[in-house]
Amino acid sequence: MESVLAAGASLLAALLFIVSLRGLSSQRTAGAGNLYGMIGMAVAIIATVAATPGIRWLDVSLALLPGAVLGAVLAARVQMTAMPELVALLHSFVGAAAVLVGVGTLCDPAHGQGPMSMILLAEIHADVVIGAITFTGSLIAFGKLRGSIGGRPLLLPGRHALNAVLALCCLGLFGASIGNSADAALPLVLVAAGVAGLLGVHLVVAIGGADMPVVVSLLNSYSGWTASAAGFMLGSDLLIVTGALVGSSGAILSYIMCRAMNRSIWNVVFGGFGAEAPAASQAPPPDGEVRERNHDQVAASLGNAREVVIVPGYGMAVARAQHAVRDLVDRLRRSGKTVRFAIHPVAGRLPGHMNVLLAEAAVPYDIVLEMDEINGDLSHTDVVLVIGANDIVNPAAEDDPTSPIAGMPVLQVWKAGEVVILKRSRGAGYAGIDNPLFYKPNASMLLGDAKSSVEKLVHALPS
Ligand code: TAP
Repeated sequence: MESVLAAGASLLAALLFIVSLRGLSSQRTAGAGNLYGMIGMAVAIIATVAATPGIRWLDVSLALLPGAVLGAVLAARVQMTAMPELVALLHSFVGAAAVLVGVGTLCDPAHGQGPMSMILLAEIHADVVIGAITFTGSLIAFGKLRGSIGGRPLLLPGRHALNAVLALCCLGLFGASIGNSADAALPLVLVAAGVAGLLGVHLVVAIGGADMPVVVSLLNSYSGWTASAAGFMLGSDLLIVTGALVGSSGAILSYIMCRAMNRSIWNVVFGGFGAEAPAASQAPPPDGEVRERNHDQVAASLGNAREVVIVPGYGMAVARAQHAVRDLVDRLRRSGKTVRFAIHPVAGRLPGHMNVLLAEAAVPYDIVLEMDEINGDLSHTDVVLVIGANDIVNPAAEDDPTSPIAGMPVLQVWKAGEVVILKRSRGAGYAGIDNPLFYKPNASMLLGDAKSSVEKLVHALPS
């Protein structure tokens, strides 16, 4: 009876995780998605503890409580822009836990002195090796995102051969442990963990700081696969399913991010595979004048517009301008204008960055559109306000085949009647390249911090 209940609870938890992922795919349902995930995790913990003989709630609570408190404090304090580094650190914990659980499983005296089952050994090796890669790779990604480790890729000569040798070493150590007792296999597994840890470091140091958020998403995927391997090792169906959900959703997200940034997924998977020194654009510097305007002039343009589109970017996050932007939108809509947001898939520094900020400022979901939904409408938009964005509206992606962002899909804001770019200078964005948009005849710049510029615009608009 107990085992039927435990199996039922595991199935319920797995279903809740699937519904949770479904919910997280849209802003409107993300809150509910989070809640389903939390309930699923509570059900999973209760079911696992209830189904494991000899485990005491006191021990589990002693492990859970400090982790829960630490997690809550970290989550409450973290800045949105520092989210990728927190996620990288959390993935390193998953990797470390996988290594410890693998080694712990091997040390179980129940294995006795006879040769271990090859299947169990393979599961332990897979868990430990993927866990160690995830652990050290995530720590390096954390360091790169924080700036404690330089962002430049370390491209050693023969690095792919080195990766292959390290991977073969892990495989060889597994081969050598077959037929051994648990005691004899332990040192081989520990060495495999060390070699895999080196591989994790080497794979991630070869990737530039610019691609780190994709690496974090890929490590998220690895942490799922390592959990899945642990599920096989521990005979936990729930862990297998949950790990596979995390692993595959992380892999899909990495692929989507790579496509949106025009990067090769293989480049990220194999640590700088095919990476070359970033080629500088061979296009001559953009011609023409950059027109600067003041708040009153931009407010006048907005006053005359019927259709306005706002393109938020990383600068809006840095300036924490989303509430001021919401005030601006309210003011414009009250005066009868149609206002919509155009969201590029990699605007900001993490997936969904802009959606989260706009949701925080209670911007209605129905006026927030994805790039593909709104790009076609930009040619009949009167005014586009680009707030702290740069690369995602750079026409060089379409016009200059030598540009480092050539081929990246961008928001075609230059097709609108008028474009106003709100940023602090003519400086480059993440890709570090000039933006010919600033020189277009229908473009102008409103220089200054995004929050204060938007606040001044709100004041300058007729109430
Ligand atoms: P960026 O191209 O990085 O441009 C942001 C602009 O914001 C900068 O040019 C900066 O110009 C301006 N800015 C900074 N602080 C500001 C402030 N306080 N007030 C006003 N402006 C400010 O950002 P984007 O257009 O959002 O594009 C995102 C880039 O990040 C893409 O290249 C993308 O590939 C990359 N990326 C994205 C992700 C994800 S998942 N979203 C992950 C990794 C990389 P000033 O200094 O002149 O103000």
